[in-house]
Amino acid sequence: MKPVIVITGTRPEIIKMAPVIRALRNRKIPTLFVHCGQHYSHYMSQQFIDDLELPAPDYAFKVKVSSPGKQISRIIAQIDRLMQKIDSSIVLVEGDTNTVLSAALAANKLRIPVGHIEAGLRSFDLRMPEEHNRRLTDHISSLLFTPTQTTKKNLKKENTWGKIFVTGNTVIDAVNEHLTIAERKSQILSKINFKKYILATAHRAENVDNITVLKNFINVFAECPLPVVYPIHPRTEKRLRQNGLYSQFKKISNLQIMPPLGYLDFLVAMKNSEVILTDSGGIQEESTAPAVRKPVLVMRISTERSEAVDAGFAKVVGTRKEKILSAINSVLEFRHELPVRSPFGDGHAAERIAEITKKETSVGLKCYCA
Ligand code: UD1
Ligand code: UDP
Repeated sequence: MKPVIVITGTRPEIIKMAPVIRALRNRKIPTLFVHCGQHYSHYMSQQFIDDLELPAPDYAFKVKVSSPGKQISRIIAQIDRLMQKIDSSIVLVEGDTNTVLSAALAANKLRIPVGHIEAGLRSFDLRMPEEHNRRLTDHISSLLFTPTQTTKKNLKKENTWGKIFVTGNTVIDAVNEHLTIAERKSQILSKINFKKYILATAHRAENVDNITVLKNFINVFAECPLPVVYPIHPRTEKRLRQNGLYSQFKKISNLQIMPPLGYLDFLVAMKNSEVILTDSGGIQEESTAPAVRKPVLVMRISTERSEAVDAGFAKVVGTRKEKILSAINSVLEFRHELPVRSPFGDGHAAERIAEITKKETSVGLKCYCA
């Protein structure tokens, strides 16, 4: 049996692919794990491989470059070189990062089928590099593992070529597999200075690369009605320093800046927070996991996770200070019961993906290649 190649590049891909790697290996499907190092710092990569108890990657690279174009071309070249040496049945990618597009393109040019996990998400916000990456990847994938009926509809509307399977999102599997361990092992609550806090993250390029939005976020944190715990993403730290805003940011009295947290610590920090304030994609999904169930305010003007909004977990609050603060006040004041089921699946997405991959690759999969 030819191996399945699972490719990751960033923090959320490691988290969401961990259950898939486990499900493939549990079924004795030969699987190679490649981390191509778009995220290369320990706290954005190896920390997650350790926390999620993954085996060391079979191949690992680091891509430290200055522009997205160089990043993409470097990843394509590395994956191309690697895949020329391996006779694989399929390449699995997850999400919408530059790694995903690069790996999918490299496979496509070698006529290796691509399976896209988390296919069909659409923000309809063309300022986002992720929107381009996910659209392009969906259109060259042979297997489209889409989390929900809504995302399936998006794919149908665009007439994508690959076979579509509604599987749920593997992030719910990851929460289910790790939250109990996290609550046993994590010491994070002893490091957080407050009993009641808002957990915040922000890293989206269209937000933090825009000085006005970046300043809005600083002001929101400064005026928040509850203390804010903020594990800082390296992109955001870089932008704050480049714009001479970091020392002002550090001085905010009810803000605790932390390094990016490991997965176990982050799960516990999320579960114990009052509200989550974020522009992350994955966190919008995790907040709906039955064991987490937290209200999320999305500091963006769009979301590709409309299911979280429709189910009552998330609210898109834009990037302006007044609107964000008023949403925080209102969510703290008017708490409502959140659903007990996640719109992103039942926590068995990875098993479905592994079964389908096994079946589809055993009958010879069509590659939609140039
Ligand atoms: C990337 C993804 C984004 C995803 C996010 C997850 C794209 C276009 N963006 O954004 O969709 O939500 O990852 O966190 O693929 N850096 C470090 N150490 C690292 C990684 C990055 O210091 O390990 C710094 C570098 O200065 C780098 C910057 O962060 O230039 C941005 O990293 P990059 O991977 O290009 O984009 P992200 O903002 O992390
Ligand atoms: N996360 C983490 N530590 C942090 C911040 C986030 O473990 O300090 C996890 C979080 O639980 C989620 C994932 O990282 O699973 C989200 O990654 P990110 O927000 O960087 O990317 P996105 O999901 O927006 O692509």
